[in-house]
Amino acid sequence: MMYSEKVMDHFMNPRNVGEIENADGIGEVGNAKCGDIMKMYLKIEGDVIVDVKFKTFGCGSAIATSSIATEMIKGKTVEEALHLTNRAVVEALDGLPAQKIHCSVLAEQAVKSALLDYARKNNLQLTGLEDFD
Ligand code: FES
Ligand code: FES
Repeated sequence: MMYSEKVMDHFMNPRNVGEIENADGIGEVGNAKCGDIMKMYLKIEGDVIVDVKFKTFGCGSAIATSSIATEMIKGKTVEEALHLTNRAVVEALDGLPAQKIHCSVLAEQAVKSALLDYARKNNLQLTGLEDFD
């Protein structure tokens, strides 16, 4: 199995690992396929994601995809982050082996779960999350 240099880089030196105290949104999801777990913390100020951290009990591909996903949404608006797809995450990593694609879904779902938590706490209606829960 071949991993891209970007996958190896984000696996060996994952960005934004940890927790955020008093996070504005916390998401936790499990991977139906492998049972691994991902937690995502968002700090949101005036509609902008100013900080994001993650923790995972997932594999190397889950670590790499979450790491790059946090970089992709940091500094973005809530609306922009809602449009993050696992496909975009995989492309940003220059691809993943086919049997590891399910790991990348964890990052997208954790971001959406954290955004949903944020929306609920603030009585916001976020379009794009209707089919997610
Ligand atoms: Fe747990 Fe991949 S199944 S690390
Ligand atoms: Fe479980 Fe990758 S095998 S997240």
